[in-house]
Amino acid sequence: MSGKLLVIEGLDGSGKATQTELLCRSLEEMGKTVRHITFPDYEQPSSALVKMYLSGVFGKDPAEVNAYAASSFYAVDRYASYIRFWKKEYEAGTIIVADRYTTSNMIYQLEKVVPEEREAFLHWLENFEYDRLGLPRPDFVFYLDMPPEISQKLMSARYSGDENKKDIHEKNEKYLEDCRESARYAAQKLGWQVINCACGDHPKSIDEIHSAILRRIKGVF
Ligand SMILES: Nc1ncnc2c1ncn2[C@@H]1O[C@H](COP(=O)(O)OP(=O)(O)OP(=O)(O)O)[C@@H](O)[C@H]1O
Ligand SMILES: [Mg+2]
Repeated sequence: MSGKLLVIEGLDGSGKATQTELLCRSLEEMGKTVRHITFPDYEQPSSALVKMYLSGVFGKDPAEVNAYAASSFYAVDRYASYIRFWKKEYEAGTIIVADRYTTSNMIYQLEKVVPEEREAFLHWLENFEYDRLGLPRPDFVFYLDMPPEISQKLMSARYSGDENKKDIHEKNEKYLEDCRESARYAAQKLGWQVINCACGDHPKSIDEIHSAILRRIKGVF
């Protein structure tokens, strides 16, 4: 009796941590056993290569590290987290709610792949992480579709205007814009639940977005 894996996905500053927390709370109120996980697992040494990549050790432009190399940095961090921290619980029936997952590679790394190679890249990623590494496949992926111009503002507030605190993805507005296109492509190809998080140039309220997510899982839990 394995559990379920729900993923909250989205671009930087789109509200993933906020919505993951609320979804966990709602599932607990329904009497479920829930575990909240977050990637990258920055607290653990398994994220070392991700940190090197995001801080620009391999190049200041994300394009300098190819999609397959960068994807593997994130994948091994997930493998370490799964084996060490949540495999047993998942297999015993716990609902795992993940803030980012393999699906983040399907956004940020897919962007680096030429259009005619995109389908093959998604196939490679699913095969590598789910079939070869043995990580569980998500039961639901909620993609928080928040325009980068709004999430950039939410993030600037967090960094108090200090642009130096942003990582090589966050600093690059053009890259994030292109990642939104990749996310839409992956969402459509892989059947993600797209949650529309903005109304014009304003973010929808945190509660409204949470309710939209709950509506999608109604009847399942
Ligand atoms: N719908 C919303 N309306 C207004 N503010 C929001 C909304 N959702 C989240 N926020 C705020 O925006 C900021 C970013 O949210 P959060 O940390 O949940 O995003 P994230 O996707 O986890 O970001 P990151 O990709 O950087 O980890 C936080 O300060 C949060 O309180
Ligand atoms: Mg976050």
